[in-house]
Amino acid sequence: MKILVTGASGNVGKAVVKSLLDLNEEVVAASVDPDKSQSDFSQQIEIVMFDFTDSSTFDNALNGIDRVFLMRPPHLGNPQDLYPFIDALKEHNIKLVSFLSLMGVENNPIPPHHKIEKYIEKVGLPYAHVRPSFFMQNISGVHAEEIRTMDQIYVPAGKSKTSFIDVSDIGLSVATLLHNPEKYVNTSHTITGSQSLDYFQVAKILSQVTGRDITYPNISFIKYRNHYIKNRKLDHKYVNVTVALYFMTRMGTAKMITNGFYELTGKQPKTFLQFALENKKIFKEF
Ligand SMILES: NC(=O)c1ccc[n+]([C@@H]2O[C@H](COP(=O)([O-])OP(=O)(O)OC[C@H]3O[C@@H](n4cnc5c(N)ncnc54)[C@H](OP(=O)(O)O)[C@@H]3O)[C@@H](O)[C@H]2O)c1
Repeated sequence: MKILVTGASGNVGKAVVKSLLDLNEEVVAASVDPDKSQSDFSQQIEIVMFDFTDSSTFDNALNGIDRVFLMRPPHLGNPQDLYPFIDALKEHNIKLVSFLSLMGVENNPIPPHHKIEKYIEKVGLPYAHVRPSFFMQNISGVHAEEIRTMDQIYVPAGKSKTSFIDVSDIGLSVATLLHNPEKYVNTSHTITGSQSLDYFQVAKILSQVTGRDITYPNISFIKYRNHYIKNRKLDHKYVNVTVALYFMTRMGTAKMITNGFYELTGKQPKTFLQFALENKKIFKEF
């Protein structure tokens, strides 16, 4: 039987696909646009048309599938957007669904992940929730433009600390769970990096790696929201969810360090310095 990976072209989905293939699992990548997706993967894999908002795509995507990696696309801010697909999973005899959640949501009902976790449990699906801390790839992804063009890390995180994790470590964690469905049924895993850094420290590491003076201006929520909506033209729902997440970060919710990654994989998570060195060219000035 095969494993369906939703969001397979995304940061975590791609890493999940890679780690599952390394474990010799048969993988099906779900994609809104299968024609453009093949180039996302280094080897030929099965790709199926799938859209969370179009239930007519569900049955075909779940054909021959017994395990699922489930993620919430960032622009789907309403937990209810995922419920029809979760209901469909219940109809398909799924052995394990591993949902990409968020660190701390078990005690915080505000992020959509909280309700999604609860819904998966309520319908009685065998689950393995993965609750990572913030991704290192936020820095090399959405925030790289401000680093390249302004030499600034443009986030409203105050002086808070974050136990950043690399998405490849999340991919390996999810693949480990899906590869051992009986062992991990109805479990939750908070996985983090091995250090908790504030953004002044992140700026220092990036300065060291790039040889430039990269700073953290510690901007306000209003400045952040205006910049990413008006200048960067990002979806306002996505930006609003991230404002809520940075608010929580300021309250200290992102700083916890756990042993979760080591317990699942027997390995140490990647450090921020390793990540910065590997991604050095992304931070190059224009
Ligand atoms: N960033 C963080 O620090 C952090 C920390 C913890 C948890 N999370 C959670 O992680 C998730 C984001 O993961 P990510 O960074 O891997 O995502 P991502 O890179 O933004 O990728 C989004 C994926 O969703 C797919 N997608 C978009 N619309 C879709 C639809 N209507 N139906 C089906 N698929 C659709 C996209 O496919 P196409 O390419 O085909 O459009 C893409 O593969 C969010 O739920 C976020 O809250 C993030």
